[in-house]
Parts: sequence; C-alpha cells; structure tokens
Amino acid sequence: MVPIGRFFPDLTGPARFVHIGVPVADGPGMLTTSGTRPAPSGTTAEPGHWTLVGDDVRVPLADGSTRRYVDLDTAATSSAAPAVARAVEAFLPWYSSVHRGAGAKSQHASARYEEARGLLLQFVGADAATHQVVFPRNTTEALNILAFRLRLAPDDVVLTTAVEHHANLLPWRRHARLRTVDVGAHGTFTVDDVVAGLDASPTPRVLAVTGASNVTGWMPPLAEIAAEARRRGVLVVVDAAQLAPHRPIDITTLGVDAVALSGHKMYAPFGTGALIAPRRLFRDGEPLMVGGGAVSAVSWDEVVWSDGPEREEAGSPNVLGVVALAAAVRDMQRQGWTAIAEHEAALVAALDRELATVPGLVRLGPTGTASLLPVAAFTLPGTPHGLLAARLSAEWGVGVRSGCFCAHPYMGRLLGLSPTDVESFHDDVRAGRRDRVPGAVRASANRGTRLDDVAVLGQALRAIAATPELDRRYHLGPHGYAAPTG
Ligand code: ALA
Repeated sequence: MVPIGRFFPDLTGPARFVHIGVPVADGPGMLTTSGTRPAPSGTTAEPGHWTLVGDDVRVPLADGSTRRYVDLDTAATSSAAPAVARAVEAFLPWYSSVHRGAGAKSQHASARYEEARGLLLQFVGADAATHQVVFPRNTTEALNILAFRLRLAPDDVVLTTAVEHHANLLPWRRHARLRTVDVGAHGTFTVDDVVAGLDASPTPRVLAVTGASNVTGWMPPLAEIAAEARRRGVLVVVDAAQLAPHRPIDITTLGVDAVALSGHKMYAPFGTGALIAPRRLFRDGEPLMVGGGAVSAVSWDEVVWSDGPEREEAGSPNVLGVVALAAAVRDMQRQGWTAIAEHEAALVAALDRELATVPGLVRLGPTGTASLLPVAAFTLPGTPHGLLAARLSAEWGVGVRSGCFCAHPYMGRLLGLSPTDVESFHDDVRAGRRDRVPGAVRASANRGTRLDDVAVLGQALRAIAATPELDRRYHLGPHGYAAPTG
C-alpha cells in the first residue's frame, strides 16, 4: 500500500486529513463514529437495506464540517457484516495454529478452518467428491494458483474477454496465449462472440470469464457461454469476485468448472478468498507457493507433497480470514438472495435515475438491462476523474473510486481509446504522470447501501457539474490523486 502521506506530503496530522475525507483518528487506529453499536445482522435502517459495520462513521469535509460517510466504493472492498464481526470476536479467544498443534485451541481452530471448506463448496454448489476449496488471499491469488497449476504450455490458448479485471488476464497471459472476446461500444459481448472464440483454431484449453464486471456491473450470460465451452471440452473458470456478494452461484447448474472469489468484497475482512476447483487439477505437480504445510515429507533431495488443498496453502493459513469468510457466507444465506437482489435492483434504478439528471455526465457501459449490478462508471467532461472523485469526497463525504479500475483494456474500449492513445498514456505512466491517465469515476453499491446514499451522489454530482470553477481549488498531483489546495 502506498502511504497516504506520499500522496499528500503536506498533510501531517488528523486535522489535515479533513480535506481528503479520511476518517478522523480518535487515537491509534480508532475511527470517530457516533458510538452506536452495529444493528444486529439483517436489520434495516431503510427498507431492503442491511446495516453494515461502520455505517455511522462520520468523515470531515473540506469546509470543516463532518458528514456520514457515503460508501459508494463497495466493489473495491465492502464493509464488514455485523455477523462477521461477531464471529471473529467470538473466535479470537480460540485463535491458534491450524494443522500444527495438538492443543485444544489448535484442534478447534483447525476444525473451524476445515469446516469452512465444506461451507464454501456448498456456497457455490460444488460437489466435494469432485471439487476442493483452497483459501488464497483473494481472487487474484486464486487465479494465479489456478493458472500455474493447469500446467499450460506457451502455445496453449486461453480464451478470455475484454471485460476482465487484470486478475483474470495477467495470470493467463503469463502461462499461455490469450485470445480475447472483444466488446462493442457499450462494453458487452454476445454468446455468439464467445462461440466464435471457442471455435477458432486451436481450441482453447480454458475459458476465463468474469461473473460480473467491476467497472460496469454487467453480468455476462454465464450459463449459456459455459455450456458452449463445455460442449467443446474447454475448462470454464469464473472470476466471481464481483458476482459472489450479489448473486447465488451454482457451478453445477451453470456448468462452470472453477470459481474464484474474495472475502473482502463480500463483507468479510481479514484477507481470505476462495478457489473452488476440480480436485483432479491439483493431484500432481508442485504448488505455486512452496514451504511448510504443503509437504508431507522433505529430505535433502526429495519432497512428498501434501494431498488435497493443503498442497496449495504453504505457510500458516489465515484462520481469522476463513472464519470471517464462513460467517459472511452464512449471513448471506440467512438473509436470502431474493431480498438482496430486490434491494440491488432498486439501487440500479436509483443510479440510473440520478446519473441521468447530471448535466454533461457520460455514462460508460450498458444501462437498462436486467443483467446489471449496482455499479456505474461515468465521466464529467472538463473535470478529470481524479479531481471529480476528490470533490465528491471533500465536499460531500462520498467515497468512490476513479481511474481505470484494474481493467485497463476494458476501459480503453469504453473510453474509445485508439492504440496511439494507449501508447501515449503508457509513456505518461512511465514518466511518472499518472494524472494524465484517462479514466472514469465508479460508484458501486451493495446490500448495505441506502437508496438515500444514491440520492446524495446525484445531488453532489449536480452541484459539482454546476460549479466547474471550484475545480481550481484542487491540485491534481502527478500520482493522479487530487486534494484541495486551501
Ligand atoms: N478490483 C477492485 C475494484 O474494482 C479492487 O475496485
């Protein structure tokens, strides 16, 4: 992580952080809140919305006032569910080594860790007889593990799409040749486009596709494209980082072979994701990470690898992360997908409605389809994306992400960049001018987002669009982040 002080070297203490919307520190690591405890999981402050930990955090604004933080950056990282916080708190007294200790606490921790594998299998509709669960840090690590373990040859083809996050492009590109299903101006592709990629020669070994775009929230027709891939004997891998917090996933019904997801996007902090994939893929060969836990025996010149998921989990595992992830899964199952989808559909409609009222705003990606999560990327011509995000934070306490969202090729398509534009922004980045990188602002929401929050976004954007002269009160540094100058 780049320390915030590097972006804002003149900011030396909590009071100065006012300008960038970072919560005021009460003391080391403490956030200022109203002091209320989170409402029990499943309760709502507004019909259809669920309370999350930190909902009541107030953040300082540039004018010295404070405001309840409006979290519209949930696609990057979601706040914790109260049920997750309670599960972690309850587990902490039992916190101890996993798979390494004879003590009662270690036995308990190991049991919790292993039982979570069963829960994750069930969460994605996988069969324990054919699939196993590995606990990596996140989706990126999961896809790196899988791409490594497939033992692809440099001439093998992996079919992927222009919609992908870098996590579902770069690991494959390291090991094989990529063939990409391109998108139209609205950032979508059709089943026929995927079929054309599958039927090109040579037949791909893998289809690596996202369950939902982190930029536009678009959900490709997974079941149809998975069926086409499987008909041709192509392994189907789904990056479900964005999909998993929003929609049920049943890989057996979908016809998907492997799925990767991240706890930090589904209400479970502490740094664990999951890779659910066919056991047969891991039966032979070396894991990506080597060390203790991945081995059953080691001599000076021989290694006997562990069987099962442990082979992929060298080093002491992150049991707290796994406890959190399991609690998040149980919480979502308890709350029910119908209620989640209903609230999120209302958020999609609210985003469409509010963004349509902002003069000059240009929306990227598809709208008006049922296949959308509450995620919206947009630009406001004349105001650089980094500056727009800074104004939303400093003037309104609204947290969004700006830039290219770790999906540069997709953003290139959505922004209509030519190869020369792309080359030129790569040159800019090499020269340390990240402020020149084209991009957009993204607002993203989840079941913890209030409809009111989307209304605040609309109000804020309309006010910002009406006051372009205030842009001059901000400095956009070469790092691409803006802060008020005053
Ligand atoms: N992939 C995350 C995002 O879209 C970090 O913001």
